Amino acid sequence: MSANQDLQQRRDAAFARGLGNQLPVYIERARNAEMWDVEGRRYIDFAGGIAVLNTGHLHPKVQAAVAKQLDAFSHTCLMITPYAVAVELAEKLNKLAPGPSPKKAIFVTTGAEAVENCIKIARAHTGRSGVIAFGGGFHGRTFMAMALTGKVAPYKAGFGPFPAEVYHAPFPIAYHGVSVQDSLDALEHIFKYDIEPARVAAIIIEPVMGEGGFYIAPPEFLQALRRLCDQHGIVLVVDEIQTGFARTGRMFALEHAGIEPDLMTMAKSLAGGFPLAAVVGKANIMDAPGPGGLGGTYAGSPIACAAGLAVLEVIEQENLCGRARAIGETMMSSLRALAQEIPAIGDARNLGAMVAIELVKNRDPHAPDPDLTKALVKRASEKGLVILSCGLYANVIRFLVPLTASDAIVREGLGIVAESLRELTGSVKAAVNA
Ligand SMILES: Cc1ncc(COP(=O)(O)O)c(C=O)c1O
Repeated sequence: MSANQDLQQRRDAAFARGLGNQLPVYIERARNAEMWDVEGRRYIDFAGGIAVLNTGHLHPKVQAAVAKQLDAFSHTCLMITPYAVAVELAEKLNKLAPGPSPKKAIFVTTGAEAVENCIKIARAHTGRSGVIAFGGGFHGRTFMAMALTGKVAPYKAGFGPFPAEVYHAPFPIAYHGVSVQDSLDALEHIFKYDIEPARVAAIIIEPVMGEGGFYIAPPEFLQALRRLCDQHGIVLVVDEIQTGFARTGRMFALEHAGIEPDLMTMAKSLAGGFPLAAVVGKANIMDAPGPGGLGGTYAGSPIACAAGLAVLEVIEQENLCGRARAIGETMMSSLRALAQEIPAIGDARNLGAMVAIELVKNRDPHAPDPDLTKALVKRASEKGLVILSCGLYANVIRFLVPLTASDAIVREGLGIVAESLRELTGSVKAAVNA
């Protein structure tokens, strides 16, 4: 039995099956966009630990900042005896958050916690209870985050009842025949059928749906949501957990739409692999809950805050926003060409380096091919590339290449995607190349 197989057997015995596991590959070491498993096999990482590694594995500056903090202290609890790294990071995030209003922040530990806290803050600010989210969206695995998530299996099935007064509208996805107007009409229907706008505390949206399939909310939709929220005094919450920190070619994806959110969530690539999440928002809204109402034992860990400060420095010094746009263009020109050749690629799309292909049967957007998607993830891993699937119908491959990856690595990974797809679909080119 191989070392990976042995660990896999022990894993299956040790962990509850609810904890998913994409690949039986056990990592021993990782740097930038490469990982090596316990058997010494090399993998290119196009998953980034699910969007956590925009600055790559163990960026030397992040590593040095963490080592320095570890020499000083590792925990005191931000709510008891605070420390400078947390204050400095909060100040920087407040400045970076889109829009001119004065901002305040809180730190928490996970993305789901950030989402939960947005709803707490929005309810405290408005005195209202209703929340509207979008079908296919993903906001986490805690109870309110699950309620907001617009996908039943596997995230919600068997776990109800959920917090009340949560409603879902369809996300505008032109490829699936849902227009911006359809989504806006659906919101009006919610106000007509379910809850009056005066009782809605918040509308929450991902500017690019992550788990749901990398669908990009059109700027005019986000702008319309801004107007709707202003009209009714609703708090607009933008979930930037997967889209943030240069991934889409801007620091935050919402910047593409040019609007200011009331509250936004941040996590994942914020701290380059250390658990840290934040809510940043308009100061008057953020200050609604009373002292002690927000926080957590590990919220704003000094180690993670030190990492976060280094991540922000790397993004700026290495122009990772520009790099995200360049990676996105390289990947899209290759994937568009591949889509011409392989009919199973129904759509290739991107916002910066948030890149995806949607796999369908016979070029039909309504005939998802989750089996091919699963097979591609497996085949690519056998060839040394880690990729992730996603999508409401489990038929989207999403690429989250570290923005620090070299062109050579990006090309090598794309080559594996092309080769794997050709093999799996029996594309003519495979025979020519064979
Ligand atoms: C958009 C979005 N929101 C919330 C979450 C939940 O974050 P976490 O897994 O850190 O709780 C995720 C995680 O994938 C996400 O992509």
